[in-house]
Amino acid sequence: MAQPTSDLQIVSLSVNGQPKTFLAESRRTLADALRHDLDLTGTKLGCEHGVCGSCTVLLDGAAVRSCLMFAVQASGSEVTTVEGLAEDGELDSIQRAFTENHGVQCGFCTAGMLITTHALLAENPQPTEAEVRDGLNGNLCRCTGYQNIVKSVLAAADAKSTDRRAG
Ligand code: FES
Ligand code: FES
Repeated sequence: MAQPTSDLQIVSLSVNGQPKTFLAESRRTLADALRHDLDLTGTKLGCEHGVCGSCTVLLDGAAVRSCLMFAVQASGSEVTTVEGLAEDGELDSIQRAFTENHGVQCGFCTAGMLITTHALLAENPQPTEAEVRDGLNGNLCRCTGYQNIVKSVLAAADAKSTDRRAG
């Protein structure tokens, strides 16, 4: 009988602005690598097959489901997780909007919602309510009924727009 062979790959990427290099099996998902190899447990795993959106991270600025890609596929990329959103130790404008508008209940979906909102507002800084609902339709929430999440995203868009005008 064939013996199991070691299949470790070098994964070298940037996570939240920090260079990271580690060994991972080829089949290790990016989500598991973030949570178990890099201790970034803010990224949550719900369905583990691409449906719930709770594992969403930014990969070179695009929102991706980290349960659906292998860590080694992210080599050479810039990954942003929920831990990387705060600015100088303060909540960023999207995190503040979710807090102020009660867009969080149990919090399980929240990391994915925040990351998806970043990608959404980067592409469309002033979305309509319908565009927000469409943009978040790949992120499931079992608690909120979505109303306050949508309100949070619209508030974040307004806050960013005010900041742009002031800046
Ligand atoms: S855990 Fe990745 S989409 Fe559900
Ligand atoms: S706040 Fe609980 S799943 Fe969304």
